[in-house]
Amino acid sequence: MNITATSPGRVNLIGEHTDYNGGWVLPAALSVSLTARVTFRPDRQIKVTASGFDGAATRSLNDAAQGHWSDASVGALREAEKLGLTSGGADIDIVSSIPAGSGLSSSAALIVTLLKAARTKAQSALSDTEIAVAARRVENEYIGVPCGIMDQMAVAIAQPGEAMALDTSTLEYRVVAVPKTHEMVVIHSGLTRSLTDGRYAARKEECDAAKAVLGTNDLCLLDPAEITARDDLDEVLRRRTLHCATEHRRVLASIDALESGDICQFGALMGASHASMRDDFEMSLPEIDTLVADAVELGAVGARLTGGGFGGCIVACVESRQRAAWQEALLKQHPNARYIDHVAGAA
Ligand code: GLA
Repeated sequence: MNITATSPGRVNLIGEHTDYNGGWVLPAALSVSLTARVTFRPDRQIKVTASGFDGAATRSLNDAAQGHWSDASVGALREAEKLGLTSGGADIDIVSSIPAGSGLSSSAALIVTLLKAARTKAQSALSDTEIAVAARRVENEYIGVPCGIMDQMAVAIAQPGEAMALDTSTLEYRVVAVPKTHEMVVIHSGLTRSLTDGRYAARKEECDAAKAVLGTNDLCLLDPAEITARDDLDEVLRRRTLHCATEHRRVLASIDALESGDICQFGALMGASHASMRDDFEMSLPEIDTLVADAVELGAVGARLTGGGFGGCIVACVESRQRAAWQEALLKQHPNARYIDHVAGAA
């Protein structure tokens, strides 16, 4: 039996590195997406073909992770077996318009898609939230990426055109509409990134070190003034912690701003978020700072780096009627950058 499942990519509008520090995030589903056609097999073989990768990979369900693009498929099927959804491998055919290495959750989309296909095969009542939690386990425990829960929740649940205000400590969420007058435009910087290249993990380790000193798992819930006053945190850990606490507050303020239609305030929060990622969390790159600055200079209400950092995409909030001219001017100044997608409010 062939089962086809699809998940969207996601862009995070605001709230970076808050999702493993007890805070909120505000991702939105994109129209770029990933579809997998899956034929489950009774033996332990996994055969994967994917658009964008040459040839096919043949793996075994017993394999350890190998740092290969097919690890996500192997890990997802191992997890599906642990959950009692399947027993055995699969032939998997993946077609994706989500560019890999761009911070738009291509990996989460693949794992969630395969787990959803397994859920369909088993006619299981597992919820989308349970699928997202299982998909995060594949990243953390099998592939070895110490990510939070944002990407999996967003691609498992959010619908294109909607943002999802998610409390990552309770997994409660609500839908936030994107304003009809504006678009959230995703522009790739031209610099690719990989969550497995160590820099994401280094930030996670710094947050863990700050948690040990401060005696809490929830860096986001600390009072920024108290963080500044602490003399037992070294300078780097103090700035990392400050980013988490201030970014979490910016997410809550952004939800208020979008819900009350105060788009200028939302734009200002995007700008403050980028400055905090650049100066306190140190996850930006000079080329990306310039791209963000030029996006605003050319008329965006706000712009910021989005995703895990160290490359990938920016997201800019632009008035819909200005978007075409804005984009043309920005891409002219940045020939290595390219348009990926946008999130527009429902008309
Ligand atoms: C990556 C991770 C997420 C999150 C973001 C940064 O996308 O997968 O869990 O931590 O980086 O906000």
